[in-house]
Amino acid sequence: MGHYSGAMFFTRWLRDPRSVGSVIPSGQTLALAMAQPVAKAYRAPVVELGGGTGTVTEALLECGLDPRDLVVVERDAYLHQHLARRFPAVRVVRGDAAHLDRLLAGLGVAKAGAVVSGLPLLSLPLLKSRRIVGAIARSLAPSGFLLQFTYGPTSPVPARMLEALELRGEPIDRVWRNVPPATIWRYEHARPRISAATP
Ligand SMILES: C[S@@+](CC[C@H](N)C(=O)[O-])C[C@H]1O[C@@H](n2cnc3c(N)ncnc32)[C@H](O)[C@@H]1O
Repeated sequence: MGHYSGAMFFTRWLRDPRSVGSVIPSGQTLALAMAQPVAKAYRAPVVELGGGTGTVTEALLECGLDPRDLVVVERDAYLHQHLARRFPAVRVVRGDAAHLDRLLAGLGVAKAGAVVSGLPLLSLPLLKSRRIVGAIARSLAPSGFLLQFTYGPTSPVPARMLEALELRGEPIDRVWRNVPPATIWRYEHARPRISAATP
């Protein structure tokens, strides 16, 4: 990531610290650790939530994801514009992750094979994170999965929320070389409903 990204990120953080969530964008090691399992599984289309300055987007493309298979959602107008310019072959949508199902429908995308979240889920109000995870659960294909990182010791999606949304999750990686160290969690449908229309 270029040094300009850090300054850009800091400016957005000063304006809205709760939704940007971190003073520095995700480190490249964490971004790669998020991107590798997604590229390995290759369940298109892949959706990245909270693209920010594009560290995870870049890692996903570096790991071999076709830009046409990627949709990035970013709520901040300035960061959205930055991402759209930086990744012209990627569909970059300005919108709220809490409306993910509607945003995907607007693009003609039925279900996501994988969702990679860069959202600061734990620093958001509980109702907001419930809406976001609910929209993700509705948007995931039966065999789809969600990756979410956390700096905390437990699942960034609370157990009661997982139960209500019929999701299950497990930690899949610990990234020590991130400041602070982060854990990556993988979530999927606990009872995937097989449908002929979705992968
Ligand atoms: C921690 S940053 C992501 C960092 C990004 N991975 C990077 O390295 O630059 C969180 C991003 O999520 C965006 N965001 C926060 N809430 C959102 C929401 N409800 N829907 C979409 N984007 C959101 C913020 O504007 C910010 O760019």
